[in-house]
Amino acid sequence: MGSSFLGFHRLSIVTHQHVILPGFQKLLLKFHSSAATGHIACSKPIKGSSMRYGGRCMRACSNKSKIRCCSSNAFIIANDEKYGNKQVVSINPRLYDYILSNVREPEILQQLREETASMHGCQMQVSPDQAQLLAMLVQICGAERCIEVGVYTGYSSLAVALVLPESGLLVACERDAKYLDVAKKYYDLANVSHKVNVKHGLAADALKSMILNGEAGSYDFAFVDAEKRMYQEYYELLLQLVKVGGLIVIDNVLWHGKVADPMVNDAKTVSIRNFNKNIMEDQRVSISMVPIGDGMTICQKR
Ligand SMILES: C[S@@+](CC[C@H](N)C(=O)[O-])C[C@H]1O[C@@H](n2cnc3c(N)ncnc32)[C@H](O)[C@@H]1O
Repeated sequence: MGSSFLGFHRLSIVTHQHVILPGFQKLLLKFHSSAATGHIACSKPIKGSSMRYGGRCMRACSNKSKIRCCSSNAFIIANDEKYGNKQVVSINPRLYDYILSNVREPEILQQLREETASMHGCQMQVSPDQAQLLAMLVQICGAERCIEVGVYTGYSSLAVALVLPESGLLVACERDAKYLDVAKKYYDLANVSHKVNVKHGLAADALKSMILNGEAGSYDFAFVDAEKRMYQEYYELLLQLVKVGGLIVIDNVLWHGKVADPMVNDAKTVSIRNFNKNIMEDQRVSISMVPIGDGMTICQKR
């Protein structure tokens, strides 16, 4: 499942406010934005200066810090001593608005996003910038055979299906028939139904039967966005199904930032944290953790 409460899965956005984005009419985002306050989290606090951060209190940084932050439009969050003065930009609503205004979202995806916006769980959908990245990865690797684990109403799967060649295949795994009905409607509207093989049921069962069916090593691309505590199992199954050089992309690897907070130890956070650690040590893949949306890790099978 995608982000459970952050609209558009933004990691760095942490105080509640509603924003309607130009060019993304009807798109109501529940932004949680620390940057909107003009403060950002950094490693050098001012005594007594504080702000809310995801329900907990963080301190705003000092102007005397060598770290350039606390300005209205600079969001430099890296620690210069540790990271060599790298300037890492944190997203605030204005910057995210700008990013979204630079996404080329196909009209059919916009329609699907707008229809989904009134549905239960709409925050689970990947964001337009994430969908665009997924589609581009599919194109870059020339993928013809893809898998998606966790379809919901089909936004990310449609983004992938749209860029697949006519002979391409996307196996779309989803347990909830109600969501699949919406996804199938949009596959039809977009004329990509012939590329999508919908598997209704538990994703792990579908992946196992594909392996039993002799499909190991025959897929180019997989996207994982379902039950967080199953990530390791999905990953191991997908590693069998993708060919050498194929990609496995995993969503929500930053889990609203909770993976980096040692005080947060609920089952999903611990599961994703352990998964990230395992991937880090897994020499079967090359990896890149990308801070887009709620964080996506791109793995390439070696
Ligand atoms: C985060 S949503 C997927 C969002 C989708 N990728 C998108 O961009 O619209 C996760 C989906 O995974 C489904 N799901 C959760 N656990 C599952 C499982 N064990 N097997 C199949 N689907 C599952 C949920 O029903 C939900 O629709």
